[in-house]
Amino acid sequence: MVSRGFWQSALCSEVTHTAPGSERHQRGECFVWRTAERLRVMGPQSRGRRAGTVQSTNDSSALSKRSLAAHGYVRDAFAALLVPGPVRRTPLIHRGYYVRARAVRHCVRAFLQRTGALPAPTRAQVLSLGAGSDSLYFRLKAAGLLARAAVWEVDFPDVSRSKAERIREIPELCSLTGPFQLGDSSSALCFESSDYRILGADLRELPKLGEALDCASLDATAPTLLLAEAVLTYLEPADAAALIAWAAQRFPDALFVIYEQMKPRDAFGQIMLQHFRRLHSPLHGLELFPDVEAQVRRFLKAGWTACSALDLNEFYRRLLPADERRRVEMLEPFDEFEEWHLKCAHYFILAASRGDTLSGTPVLPPPEASFWVDPALPSGFFSARAVTSDQHSSLKRYGHASVLLSPGIIFSAGGFGEEEGRHCRVSTFHLLWRSRDSEWKSSQISTLGTGGQWDGRLYHTMTRLSDTQVLVLGGRLSPVTPASGALQLELYRSEADCPESQTVTVTEAAMEEGPVLSCWRHSTTEVYYQNQRYLFVYGGRSVVEPVLSDCRFLHVETMAWVPIPVEGAAPEGRHSHSACGWQGGALIAGGLGASEEPLSSVLFLRPKSSGFLWESIDIQPLITPRYSHTAHVFHGKLLLVGGVWIHSSSVPGVTVIDLTTGSSSEYQLDTTSVPWPVMLHSHSSVLLPQEQQILLTGGGGNCFSFGTYFNPHTVALDLSSLSTGQ
Ligand SMILES: C[S@@+](CC[C@H](N)C(=O)[O-])C[C@H]1O[C@@H](n2cnc3c(N)ncnc32)[C@H](O)[C@@H]1O
Repeated sequence: MVSRGFWQSALCSEVTHTAPGSERHQRGECFVWRTAERLRVMGPQSRGRRAGTVQSTNDSSALSKRSLAAHGYVRDAFAALLVPGPVRRTPLIHRGYYVRARAVRHCVRAFLQRTGALPAPTRAQVLSLGAGSDSLYFRLKAAGLLARAAVWEVDFPDVSRSKAERIREIPELCSLTGPFQLGDSSSALCFESSDYRILGADLRELPKLGEALDCASLDATAPTLLLAEAVLTYLEPADAAALIAWAAQRFPDALFVIYEQMKPRDAFGQIMLQHFRRLHSPLHGLELFPDVEAQVRRFLKAGWTACSALDLNEFYRRLLPADERRRVEMLEPFDEFEEWHLKCAHYFILAASRGDTLSGTPVLPPPEASFWVDPALPSGFFSARAVTSDQHSSLKRYGHASVLLSPGIIFSAGGFGEEEGRHCRVSTFHLLWRSRDSEWKSSQISTLGTGGQWDGRLYHTMTRLSDTQVLVLGGRLSPVTPASGALQLELYRSEADCPESQTVTVTEAAMEEGPVLSCWRHSTTEVYYQNQRYLFVYGGRSVVEPVLSDCRFLHVETMAWVPIPVEGAAPEGRHSHSACGWQGGALIAGGLGASEEPLSSVLFLRPKSSGFLWESIDIQPLITPRYSHTAHVFHGKLLLVGGVWIHSSSVPGVTVIDLTTGSSSEYQLDTTSVPWPVMLHSHSSVLLPQEQQILLTGGGGNCFSFGTYFNPHTVALDLSSLSTGQ
C-alpha cells in the first residue's frame, strides 16, 4: 500500500510550473526550468551553442531513466551509477520512460537474438547514435548478452568524454568493461575496451563520423544495429536524412531503430513542440514526417529495404505481456490516463532493416488493421466558436463538473486548474450565464463566509436538484485520497437580476444511512423507477479497485440508497465513461476498462416494472473505443463528444449514434474560428436543446513533461445540421 505522503510528492505531475519557489523546484525537480532559464541567459544561438542546448536533453533523459529504475519499472542498476544526484519523477513520466525503455529493449533483444544464431566468428555490433548517458552497454554486458557482440557509442565530444570519465571513477562500471583506455582530447575515441567504445563526434559531420568509426574498428560488413533513441528530431531534417541514407549505404546488413516524437499538428503535439522550442532544442522534421506511415516511407526511400513502426500505445498493448502490463500499472498510484495515452500516441518506435540476416522477419509487426470507421474521413463537421473571450477565465480547469441550473445559467465546480497564477485543485466556483443581449458572460463566484469550503475534489459528478441546489457525489483529492462524503451546494443571489452577485454555501449532503461513495471518474444519471426519481451511480474507480461495475440508486426525495434489481448481462467495469438519461433509463458509452483499454460498448439501462435491464446497443459501423468524453441525446441521437482514443491517429470529434437504427457516423469539429489549441478531454459539456448547441467548458490536461494546458474559452458546437438532417 502506498502512503499518502508518497502521493503528495508524486502528485507533482499535475504541477508543471517548475519556476523557482514552486513545489517541484523546492524538491529539486527543477531541471526543465533550470535548462530553459540557462538557455534564456545564454542568448542567441550559434551551431556550437545549440549543440550545448541539445546535449542538455541528455541530462533530462538520464535523470528520468535513473528515477525509472529506482522505482522498480525496469531493472537497471547502472543508470544511478552513470548519473549522480537523487531525483524522483512523477508516475506519468515513469510510465512514459518505461514504455520507451521496453520498446528499445524489444528491438535490441530481437537484433541480438537474430545475430546470435549466426555461425561463429560473426560478431554483431550495436552502434548507439546520440547515446548520452544511457546504460545500454552495461545492461547487456551484465545480462551476458555481449559474448558475441560489442557496443559503440557516439555523442558530442563533451558528452562522450564526461561519460568516459564517469566510468573510470566507478569501480562497478570498470569491472564490467574490463581493461580500458581513455583517449586524449585530440582523439574522437574517448573510451576503448575490448567490447565497448565511446566516440565524440557530431552526427551531422558524416565523413568525420565514418573515419572515427573506422578508427574504432567498427566493421561495416558485420551485422549492425544502429540505435537513435530520441536523437534524430534534434537534427535538422537534411542532417537526419543524410544520416539515414549514409547508414543504408554503409551497412549492408543492418537494423536501424529510432524512437522519437510525431503528430505535431493536434493540440498535444502543439504543446510538445512549444515545450522543446522553449528549451531551445526545437524538434525538427515532424511536419515532414508527421506519422508512422510517413516515417516508414522515409526509411524505405533512403535505401532501407524493410521497415515497420508502431506508436507507443500500440507497442504497449500488443507487444508487452498482460502480466507485465499489470505489474507496471500497479507500481504507483496513477490517475493520468488521458495524458499517458496522449503521450504514447505522440511517440513511435521504428525498425528499418537491410540484408538477409535482419530483413527476414520484421522486428516490429505491421500496424493492426482497424475495425472501426476511419474518423479521419468524417461524415461532416460541427462548427465550433468561442463564446467567451476571457483568457483568465476561472474555467481554465479539467476534471471539474458542470450543470445547467436553469435556462442560460451553467454552474461549474471543482477540478484541477489555474487559480491566482498557480496550478492547483480549484476552490472557486464558476458561473456562465447568458445576458440580456444573449452573450455568454463568465464569472467566478465564491463561498459564503459562514459556510463550509469546497474540499478541492476532482472527477466528481454534479446533479441539479433545483434551480439553486446541486448534489455533488464522489470525486478524489489524490489517487490515494477519495473525497469524503456527498456535498450539497446552494446558490444565493443577493441582487435579484444579477447572476454575478451569487454566492454558494457548501454543506454535507443529508443522506440516509447507507454506503459511502468513495469513487471517482464514475457517472451519475437521473433515472425513473415506479414514477420515482433516482440517481443511478455507475462505475468509476477507487483506491483499491481500478474499475468499478456497481449499480447504485439514490432515491432523490429521501436521499436514501435503495437496492433496485438490475437484470441482464452486467457490462464490464469501467471509469471515465459517459452517461446520459434517455427514456427514463441511462445510456452508458465507452470508458476505460480494467486493463486500461478504452471501450467501445454502448449500453442502455432500460427501466422495467420490476427494476432495470441492461441491454447492449448494436452499433454499425463499430465506433472507435474512447473515454474521458461527454455525451448527450439530441433528436433521438446519442452524441459522444471529444475524449481520448488510441485506436485511431485522428483526434476524437463527435460520434453520432442513431438510437433507433444503431447507425453511427463520425463528425469532426470545425475549429477554424476557435483560438487553438483545444483539448477535448476531462472537459464538461452542457446541451442547450433550444439553441441546438452543446457548450464545452474547461478541459485539458498535464501534457507529460511538456506543461499543463487548459482550454481558455467556452466553446459552442452548432448541432443545427443534425436537426435539419444535413
Ligand atoms: C534526448 S538525449 C537522448 C540520449 C540517449 N539516446 C537516451 O535515450 O538516453 C539526445 C542525445 O543526442 C545527442 N545529440 C544530438 N544531436 C547530436 C549530434 N549532432 N551529434 C552527436 N550527438 C547528438 C545529445 O547530445 C544527447 O545526448
